[in-house]
Amino acid sequence: MEQRRETASTVSSIQIAPSILASNFLKLGDAVGEAERGGGDRLHIDVMDGRFVPNITIGPPVVRAIRTATSMPLEAHLMVVEPERYVQAFADAGTDVIIVHCEVSPHLYRTMQQIHDAGCRAGVAINPATHWIAVEEVLDIADLILVMTVNPGFGGQKFISPMLRKISALRRTIDRREDAAELEVDGGVTFETAEQVVQAGARVLVAGTSVYQSETGVSASIEALRRAASRGLRPAAGVPH
Ligand code: DX5
Ligand code: ZN
Repeated sequence: MEQRRETASTVSSIQIAPSILASNFLKLGDAVGEAERGGGDRLHIDVMDGRFVPNITIGPPVVRAIRTATSMPLEAHLMVVEPERYVQAFADAGTDVIIVHCEVSPHLYRTMQQIHDAGCRAGVAINPATHWIAVEEVLDIADLILVMTVNPGFGGQKFISPMLRKISALRRTIDRREDAAELEVDGGVTFETAEQVVQAGARVLVAGTSVYQSETGVSASIEALRRAASRGLRPAAGVPH
């Protein structure tokens, strides 16, 4: 199968992934266009099944429609039980990155292989209460680790600060092993927390509320988030490097 649009990104650059969950679904096409014109690096699509998380959102037909409206890479964050049952459908709909939760994937390595076989990049998401060690054994095959910094299920929640330690631990482990996995964070990313997550080692930032519900508009919000995030790349004052 054809290799999807995105290749491994440069680890040193920051990517912003607007989450359409926070957009006005009546104007979904506009929201996708605004993210692309505003410089979003990829589009984050939250898929919820009402079983793994207490909310229900969208599925492959909506992804298929979004695919026709943008050339941004699409990442589907599957908050569903038995995610392996839906990998092919999301791949066929035009998804570039398929992210499954380690908590619902007893055969996680196999599911990662399945995602690759379907022609997509493979990501693993990890809940706040799950130790980062749960994903260590798939670091060699995962293209992306998504650290949840809120409890999955809803947008607009408060960032859980102790997750910064988990981000740092994963950053150190990925670097030590020289793995290529991207480190992404999801939930409560704002102009304040963006700097902290980058300082801890994240390089891809999902942002819903702070992009789609800010008064300044989508484009200015993405730009402001990128600026805030890049401050986290600077070495801390007084710390030799
Ligand atoms: C939560 C979702 C997030 C959500 C983030 O379960 O996985 O992607 O859209 O929204 P904000 O940025 O509003 O916390
Ligand atoms: Zn998400």
